[in-house]
Amino acid sequence: MAKAKTATRSKKRPSSAGAAEGNTQLMKFFTDALKDIYWAEKNLTKALPKLMKAATTEELKAAIKTHIEQTKVQVQRLEEVFGLLGKKAQAKKCDAMEGLIKEGESVVEDTEDGSMTRDVAIIVASQKVEHYEIATYGSLVQLSVTLGLQDAADILAETLQEEKDTDEILTGIAEGNINWAAEQEEEA
Ligand SMILES: [Fe+2]
Ligand SMILES: [Fe+2]
Repeated sequence: MAKAKTATRSKKRPSSAGAAEGNTQLMKFFTDALKDIYWAEKNLTKALPKLMKAATTEELKAAIKTHIEQTKVQVQRLEEVFGLLGKKAQAKKCDAMEGLIKEGESVVEDTEDGSMTRDVAIIVASQKVEHYEIATYGSLVQLSVTLGLQDAADILAETLQEEKDTDEILTGIAEGNINWAAEQEEEA
């Protein structure tokens, strides 16, 4: 039975029919990874507003605000992907993102309100989050293709691009002015 399936499997499959049929180990892994990032995104919609409030410059506040709106849509996209799998969206605690969110909270506590160093710290913490997301969505897009879930791959690729764009925007803000201004700051 398994042999017959393998024989018909080609590297590129045109539709999502293939993966939806079965409960392969890879399919289970993929679904678990979706639950993990679903938890992460939902928690980021709560964590990012705190970072936005804590930020010093309007430039950084605006960038985080844009990404909060994107993150809300990313949550919906994941719900769409669960739907494509015929599953209800379910969140499973992501230990890595919990740690990264905690780190974001602690850098705010450890830096002075209204300082440029605060913004540097928020950018560094945020970029760690973005890089985690880039790694996750990059993998999920590839796994979707492998599983023959092209529609899911397309949806997840949209989010991947937003995470990459956000990372670049944060780099631009840091290098534009904030890192230099923080370097001029007196010790608290
Ligand atoms: Fe995200
Ligand atoms: Fe993000």
